[in-house]
Amino acid sequence: MGCSAGLVAIGLAKQLLQVHDNSYALIVSTESITGNCYVGKDRSKFLINCLFRAGGAAILLSNRPSDHKHSKYQLIHTIHTNTSTSDQCYHSIFREEDNAGIVGVTINKHLVATAIATIERNIITLGYLILPMQEKVVYIARKLLPSKTLSLNNIPNFRKAVDHFLPHVGGKVVLDQLQKTLGFAEDNMEASRMTLFRYGNTSSSSIWYELAYVEAKGRVKRGDRVWQMAFGSGFKCQSVIWRAIKTIDHDDYNPWADEIVGFPVLLEDIETDPECFVSYLPISKTI
Ligand SMILES: *[C@@H]1O[C@H](CO)[C@@H](O)[C@H](O)[C@H]1NC(C)=O
Ligand SMILES: *[C@@H]1O[C@H](CO)[C@@H](O)[C@H](O)[C@H]1NC(C)=O
Repeated sequence: MGCSAGLVAIGLAKQLLQVHDNSYALIVSTESITGNCYVGKDRSKFLINCLFRAGGAAILLSNRPSDHKHSKYQLIHTIHTNTSTSDQCYHSIFREEDNAGIVGVTINKHLVATAIATIERNIITLGYLILPMQEKVVYIARKLLPSKTLSLNNIPNFRKAVDHFLPHVGGKVVLDQLQKTLGFAEDNMEASRMTLFRYGNTSSSSIWYELAYVEAKGRVKRGDRVWQMAFGSGFKCQSVIWRAIKTIDHDDYNPWADEIVGFPVLLEDIETDPECFVSYLPISKTI
């Protein structure tokens, strides 16, 4: 299911819990665990070999009324966007054989444009659900202006509707592009950039490391809204909105617990664009 798997599973679990009373759902979100190592010679299939590490997270959902007082978050919205009916989107990350018959995952040059187009659709749906009325009016008014087509350039101010933004980490280029298109400030990107720095470009588990980051920092207060967003092959994009039921206290089991005081770190001097990304993903906007 690719990088969006963890959040797609949250959506599935939500539907299952809607029809099964008094139940638990356990979601395990990991890195690439299938035989995806590519041993051929096609450069566009190398990326998967060097990208992912060994992250993993488990999430327990419950709809038992008695668990309400122990729970950290309430699930508010899950928004699923799937653009696989478009050939370009479907093939942007694609498992196939190379000329020599060796199976690998091709990442093609349309990836960034595809990702942005799919994310855009997801954000539009999300906007209708969570934006305050005033922002919605501004949003719709902009949409009606004949001179402006709806695009991420006139995206409304989501900072009014969510307290923590936790996008899928993917790689530095992906985060830069996302920040640019959403018009977010650097501090909105802190959790994702620090997760990339500390845990690498984790796949579907990245958003859980980011959640743990803001928790370890003591930033999640009762009533806060958390927006996790994951996207990947398909092409799929899934947003999940949670509301904190309580202020999250220090937890020794948090993966960041021992070292959180050392974060955030200054990244400019440390991080360079990895070569494999630069040669395959055009950074220019092509929607
Ligand atoms: C995405 O859409 C395709 C085509 O409609 C469908 O076959 C596939 O199951 C969908 N996948 C998800 C995860 O929604
Ligand atoms: C993955 O993340 C690590 C840590 O930030 C970085 O050094 C590496 O270049 C990244 N690789 C890719 C392909 O983005």
